Amino acid sequence: MQIDKEIKQKGIENKVPISLDSTLSFICQTINSNNFKSVLEIGTAVAYGTITIAENTSCTHIDSLEIDPERYAIATQNVKAHNLNNKINLFLCDAINYIKTTNKTYDFIYLDGPKGQYINYLPYLIKLLNKGGVLLADNLYFHGMVTGKIPISKGCRAMIKGLKNYITAIKTSPELKTQILDIGDGLGYSIKI
Ligand SMILES: C[S@@+](CC[C@H](N)C(=O)[O-])C[C@H]1O[C@@H](n2cnc3c(N)ncnc32)[C@H](O)[C@@H]1O
Repeated sequence: MQIDKEIKQKGIENKVPISLDSTLSFICQTINSNNFKSVLEIGTAVAYGTITIAENTSCTHIDSLEIDPERYAIATQNVKAHNLNNKINLFLCDAINYIKTTNKTYDFIYLDGPKGQYINYLPYLIKLLNKGGVLLADNLYFHGMVTGKIPISKGCRAMIKGLKNYITAIKTSPELKTQILDIGDGLGYSIKI
């Protein structure tokens, strides 16, 4: 997989949360093996994942949502530097406003925004996903706090509860077929049936 080491390094130095390469590699394989064309990413950060997906898959367009203006500005520069303006559309917005109102549908949705909100986003994301499409949610282990490997930090209780509710919801939804994958920080892999 081709990655931009400079974006990755700067992200790490500036403490910007970026996706793990094992997660991105799995995403690229999934998109390519299913010949998915349209992608929605929730949580752009500095577009490390977005650019990696655009450069390593056959998808034709990616919409990516970011709430933080500084990260959005860096992401915009990074996308331009990679000449990917024709493939990537960045949106500076609260994801909930976009997913509630857009008329677009997607083959693949990468859910990597606010962890405590996954459960609230789920009904909208199911609507936006094409049949046979994949909803992939990152950080379902949340560094071991969801699985009980490490104690839940004080400030994380509501978020962990939200993630647990999300896991239950994707496993029991009649509209989804779900597996929790032991890749990276735990991935929720849900196919819309
Ligand atoms: C884990 S980072 C995303 C990493 C990125 N997907 C990558 O592959 O490098 C999560 C991002 O979600 C953004 N975010 C948090 N709440 C959001 C919201 N309500 N709407 C849109 N983006 C949000 C954060 O600012 C942060 O940059």
